[in-house]
Amino acid sequence: MEKEIVIVLDFGGQYNQLIARRVRECNVYCEVLPYNTSLDKIKEIAPKGIIFTGGPASVYEADSPTCDPEIFNLGIPILGICYGCQLMTFLLGGKVSKAPLREYGKTEIAITTSSKLFQGVSDKTICWMSHTDYIEIPAPDFSIVAKSDSCPIAAVENVAQKLYGVQFHPEVVHTPEGPKMLHNFLYEVCQCSGEWRMAAFAENMIATLKEKIGDKKVLCALSGGVDSSVAAVMISKAVGKQLTCIFVDHGLLRKNEGDEVEAIFTTQFDLNFIRVNAQERFYKKLAGVSEPEEKRKIIGEEFIRVFEEEAKKIGTVDYLVQGTIYPDVIESGLGKSAVIKSHHNVGGLPDYVDFKEIIEPLRNLFKDEVRKAGLELGIPENLVFRQPFPGPGLAIRIIGDISPEKVALLQEADYIYREEIAKAGLDRSIGQYFAVLTNLRSVGVMGDERTYDYTVALRAVTTTDFMTAEFSELPWDLLGKISNRIVNEVKHVNRICYDITGKPPATIEWE
Ligand code: XMP
Repeated sequence: MEKEIVIVLDFGGQYNQLIARRVRECNVYCEVLPYNTSLDKIKEIAPKGIIFTGGPASVYEADSPTCDPEIFNLGIPILGICYGCQLMTFLLGGKVSKAPLREYGKTEIAITTSSKLFQGVSDKTICWMSHTDYIEIPAPDFSIVAKSDSCPIAAVENVAQKLYGVQFHPEVVHTPEGPKMLHNFLYEVCQCSGEWRMAAFAENMIATLKEKIGDKKVLCALSGGVDSSVAAVMISKAVGKQLTCIFVDHGLLRKNEGDEVEAIFTTQFDLNFIRVNAQERFYKKLAGVSEPEEKRKIIGEEFIRVFEEEAKKIGTVDYLVQGTIYPDVIESGLGKSAVIKSHHNVGGLPDYVDFKEIIEPLRNLFKDEVRKAGLELGIPENLVFRQPFPGPGLAIRIIGDISPEKVALLQEADYIYREEIAKAGLDRSIGQYFAVLTNLRSVGVMGDERTYDYTVALRAVTTTDFMTAEFSELPWDLLGKISNRIVNEVKHVNRICYDITGKPPATIEWE
């Protein structure tokens, strides 16, 4: 059977990924492609439908993103969103104009004519608008199906050509009936059958990997994080012991984490698992270093060294696994922004290891889909829902220089914090939470004794994309309990602070 796919043509909108996710949530597989994807390529893909995203441009600007108008004659249903709707109107002979004021926020629209797109949607419904340009005259053969007070043309359609356009954003949560509209487009207009399911994806991927890898050897750098773990398990299900995973314990993991990872991969899955206990090497290299970027660089380089040494023992491999996921693929197409922190990600090793090809089994999945796949594959929930953990580990949560004693202290404090958050049932709702060991020492009193000990900072943030974040409003009594436990149970800590800065201006990690 032909694989059913819908494509999203990206005209620079900030919600391009969100649209693709919404489509997949309707069980239809979806990919984001650049707006200038050639017509031939689109024909070759033969999508069931196309969605044009919004974007910041104006259709009249000379260099605004556009597409070949022949796309409208392919007989493939198209839904234009915001800029996508304006572009469709403009290219097909309608009139788009600039409003004196930008319309922004929740707006009530009225559906004036029955339309496949709005089947089952209330006659008056709230939609999210964010536009300055608007459609003054629809293109010939298009009719108006919805309006709002300030926007006389909120939705248009050309039923015969299966072309639809909306001025608002159905993909964002502020359009409560948006999912219904997208569902209508996919099922009523595009006639999708909706066969995209994670279980089927995992099964197909395993079969494909089995065929591709054959009897060859595969190598994977396992970090214990969600992505590399799911990628490794998928490959192990395909080729078992032809896969070797190297897990470098740099001594900067959370309490018990190294043992947990080892326990899971040595008992539950069929693969060769090598744990390298490189703690001493890392501590030695890091001794006396306090500058954050220098720490990151040292760890990144040392990691490669250790991995390389182990890989050499194995000899030439055919494939190297990378846990790249879909947002990385989409984002890598865009321009680079300023380097705030040099990220060290396990997996960026191709220059140093003798291999022939990279395989990326999660390349097409969003993070929540990676988690779903992980559960399908039988990976334990505590690993699948593990919060993100930076490659350099606790090194960037210990301000100033690092010592094994400080690592141990932070591991204990962080463990208590995580335990209490989990007990309070908040572990899945907070984006990321961890303890930081500051290099500040202050005076305290314990029993009748004066103390001069460390301050531990607690951080908890709510975020959807980790690009921006707000501090979480943890209950005071919970913070109080955590504070009490840490100062009582962890030696050399006599003060606890809670970080109440968002990102920006702070970052999530302290270094
Ligand atoms: P920041 O501190 O930049 O963190 O606001 C954003 C997210 O990225 C994680 N992070 C890293 N992840 N390697 C990683 O794989 C790194 O070097 C690294 N530094 C930060 C951080 O934990 C947060 O989720």
